[in-house]
Order: sequence, then structure tokens, then C-alpha cells
Amino acid sequence: MKKIILTGDRPTGRLHVGHYVGSLKERVKLQNSNEYDEIYIMIADAQALTDNAEHPEKVRQNIMQVALDYLAVGLDPEKSILFIQSMVPQLTELTFYYMNLVTVSRVQRNPTVKAEIQMRGFETSIPVGFFCYPISQAADITAFHATVVPVGEDQMPMLEQCKEIVHKFNSVYGETLTDPQIKLPDNASCLRLPGIDGKAKMSKSLGNCIYLSEEPEEIRKKVMSMFTDPNHLRVEDPGQVEGNPVFIYLDAFCRPEYFAEFLPEYENLDQLKDHYRRGGLGDVKVKKFLNNVIQAELAPIRERRKYWEQRLPEVYEILREGSRKAEQKAAQTLREVRHAMRIDYFEDNNLLK
Ligand code: TRP
Repeated sequence: MKKIILTGDRPTGRLHVGHYVGSLKERVKLQNSNEYDEIYIMIADAQALTDNAEHPEKVRQNIMQVALDYLAVGLDPEKSILFIQSMVPQLTELTFYYMNLVTVSRVQRNPTVKAEIQMRGFETSIPVGFFCYPISQAADITAFHATVVPVGEDQMPMLEQCKEIVHKFNSVYGETLTDPQIKLPDNASCLRLPGIDGKAKMSKSLGNCIYLSEEPEEIRKKVMSMFTDPNHLRVEDPGQVEGNPVFIYLDAFCRPEYFAEFLPEYENLDQLKDHYRRGGLGDVKVKKFLNNVIQAELAPIRERRKYWEQRLPEVYEILREGSRKAEQKAAQTLREVRHAMRIDYFEDNNLLK
């Protein structure tokens, strides 16, 4: 069986470091392992429109931003097919067929949908399209026969729902669809990066993000203003490392060699943590170190982004060519699906048989 990756992001804003450690970094790693036969990375504009119907211009503007972020982190159009969701109309068709295999109450029980409905204050006025987006996400994944879906932890319920649809489809219409596996980052601190304000999630709407395209001075200000242990008032006080955003970020971003480079009086992160716990280590010192670490991680990304910003027509071509290839692949799957569902009427005069 071929090894195929599909994943993507909604173009509702630039991508931030939470996206990076939670999923983008993993994708680049998988891409460069050369173990995958096909890799599809999707800009999910149709999904973004499910709760942005009145803001199409926002979605449109962010397509290029997300594409630039993808190229900036090292997704390579020679190895990964970058495409735009709505340019592959087969995904909508597939969604429509899958809708018959899912109950309203099952979608209502989807924890991600539940949380998002609450966050957006939809409650009684949920757009039908938004409500159905887990089903459309199953279409995205299965249209490419994806075997592996590298995403953040928040997408786990989507994958579960997708698997259910795959099993249901295959048991009703015969073995057709591929059962996908989720791929989370191995580093637990990367699963859900908190915001710089210490809130559970980094999110554009909460205004607590560090963006991948951020300038060095902005990053420094944000890091130095980060929430830490509120009980660590004086340098000599013992501090708490667990749940402390500054240390969670260090867990997520720090490489061993950064100690020699930026903080040679410690050998590794464990030593630094021990000192903080004992007391006698100030937040400013730890934040300065974290700032150096994040700057070192983001500098090459920012540079690559600037390179591609000078070449927007090329980025446009990458998306256009990627969308063409993605459509070809999805069209093949739709032929299989229509055959399985016995709605391929005009193939070989089927309707007459
Ligand atoms: N829901 C994802 C997000 O919010 C985007 C997405 C759409 C996706 N379809 C997908 C992710 C299919 C993985 C697989 O970022």
C-alpha cells in the first residue's frame, strides 16, 4: 500500500509558532524522511468559509499568507503538493455522499465542534455548513487515500469521526476507502502550546500568538512579556516549572546546543529547571534565554519567507499546479466511490445493466 499524507490549515490568518511545533515541523520532518509516496498539503479555504461566509476577502488574502508560511517552514513543492481546497470540487461531492452516513447527534458529540460552537457563541445559530465540517474533513482525507494525517492534538476528534465514516462507507458499499492514522508530534510539550498569556491555547482570536513571520523586536517584546509562575515574585523564591509557559516553550523549542551558545553556565534544560525550582533564578534570565532560542529557530524561517515574498508569481504557480494535481487524484477516488455506490451510470453503459 502506498504511504500518503494529507493535512492542511484554514486560511484565516498567518500561522504561528503553535502551528509550527504542533504540526508544521512534523510535516517537514515526514516530507524530508522521503518515506512517503505522495504528500498533499491543503489550504482549507472552503472550511474557513464555513464560519466566515461574510468575510470572503479575509479568506482570500490569507491563502497567500499560509502558502508563504508553508514554504517558509521548509515544505518543498518538489516533494509536497500544495493546493487550495475549493479548487478540488470533488471534495464537495464526496462530502455530500458522506452526510448520509453520519447522524446529527454524532456530530453534536464531536468535542472539537462543541468547543468551537461555544467559542464562537453560535449556540442556536450554527451555520449548517459549519456543523458539517467534520464530514467535509473526512472527504478531504479520504479523497487522497491518505494513510497518515499529521495534525495538532485538537484535530483528534476529527480523525475519529473520519475513521467512522470510512468504516461505515466500506461496510455499506464495499472496501473502497483507506483508513487513516493520526500523527501527533512526539514531544508532549508541542501538543498544545499555550499562549504567551498562559491561556491554554495559542489562538489569533485571543491575541496571544507569536507569528512565524514576526520581526525579531516584536518576538523579543512578546517573550519578555510572557506569563510565568505568578508565585515566583522574587528571584530567591522557589519557582514552578510545570504549567509555566516559559518552560513549556523551552521544552518545545530548545535544542541541547543552545546552552553552549546562549547560556553556558547550564549544561541542559534539566539543570535550568532544577535551579528555577530551588529558587535563585530570575524570570528575566530565563526569558532572555528563551528569546535567543526562539530567535534562532525563527530566523531561517523568516529569511525563507522573505525569499518567497519576492516571488509571488512563482508561489501562485505552485498553488495552481498543486491544485491541478490534487484534482486529478481526487477525481480518480470519486470514480471509485461512484462505482462502489452504484451511481456510475454512464460508465460502460452501467445503467442499462
Ligand atoms: N481543520 C483543520 C484546521 O483547522 C484544517 C483541515 C481541513 C484539515 N481539512 C483537513 C486538517 C483535513 C487535516 C486533514 O486547521
